Amino acid sequence: MKKQIKNNVYWVGKVDWELRKFHGDEYSTHKGSTYNSYLVQEEKTVLIDTVWSPFAREFVDNLAQEIDLNKIDYIVINHGEIDHSGALPVLMEQIPDVPIYCTANAVKSLKGQFHQDWNFQVVKTGDKLDLGNGKELIFVEMAMLHWPDSMATYMTGNNILFSNDAFGQHLATEELFNDLVDQCDLYGESIKYYANILTPFSRILKRKLDEILALNLQIDIIATSHGVIWRDNPMQIVEKYAQWCDDYQENQISVIYDTMWGGTKRLAEKIAEGISSADPEVKVKVINIAKTDVNDAITEVFKAKTVVIGSPTINRTILHSVAGLIELMRGLGFKKKKAGAFGCYGWSGEAVKYIRELLEKAGFQLIDEELKTTWYPDNDQQLAAVEFGKKIAKA
Ligand code: FEO
Repeated sequence: MKKQIKNNVYWVGKVDWELRKFHGDEYSTHKGSTYNSYLVQEEKTVLIDTVWSPFAREFVDNLAQEIDLNKIDYIVINHGEIDHSGALPVLMEQIPDVPIYCTANAVKSLKGQFHQDWNFQVVKTGDKLDLGNGKELIFVEMAMLHWPDSMATYMTGNNILFSNDAFGQHLATEELFNDLVDQCDLYGESIKYYANILTPFSRILKRKLDEILALNLQIDIIATSHGVIWRDNPMQIVEKYAQWCDDYQENQISVIYDTMWGGTKRLAEKIAEGISSADPEVKVKVINIAKTDVNDAITEVFKAKTVVIGSPTINRTILHSVAGLIELMRGLGFKKKKAGAFGCYGWSGEAVKYIRELLEKAGFQLIDEELKTTWYPDNDQQLAAVEFGKKIAKA
């Protein structure tokens, strides 16, 4: 059933309460998600984005109950990823000639995925589409936010920015609007989404935000493609993005480890104790990466000014949980964060050196001190871990 957003603009998307993994299994969605599609019914009727492929038939059937599909004049595809374009094949069977407005890169991504030669109309930043009733759509390319094909669409008159992935969150909700959902859930899912998806593009985002703000558009609503629609103080999420894209960090140190027989875990706890005793103001998070959702752990890396990573030595290397985490950190390209390494070993003891090498390649600024102990740490070694924690706090 369509839901009114403002005047003649309606939400016609899909709420996916069951979703627990996204991008294959790469991203955890503890609270589900939504695929937001919008129907604009001015003199011209426009569909903005669709939904993920598994819901294509349901989406098109629902849409056909709301309007005669042949009344759709234009389709706008802000981004070719199949969580937004996935219903196109089913829809275009019904209305094969309707023009699809998208970026040149979206033509490539849509053709690459669906192998169809639909009626693509390529648009660039500043191009406009007249809707009648004195309103128009204005397109803004958002290349690499987060695919080369991404764009946003601004509707004049109603002052709605259809931002696609930007400003979204994976949060299933029937209420649709930001003022109607649990604010802790909303903040938590927004920052996790930024940390895990948008961090690599922070520099580009910074420039794009400046560019959008310079346009002086009146933005009354930000209609994202996942999660809530920002209608209550919509610029609050833009302000958050401005902070998050600027080498964001809080006064937090995250200690992340895996352990085999508890030695490295004991070190982690003692390091946390040392950090806290040296600086009671700093927030310390201790995370066993093998027992914690990796995307939640990445959010704690994003918030941290310093991360301390630990693994025991196994087969002359580190545990794969820790290796996977650091590889994820490397790909996300965090900037201006410090890092330290620690771990237990029985005989060869390569882990700490290897963690340091990986962290350096991942762009972290290494703290000189490291902590490497044998077998299960005795009292002196545990005291050394507390002292190491104090040095981390002061670094
Ligand atoms: Fe929500 Fe990049 O797709």
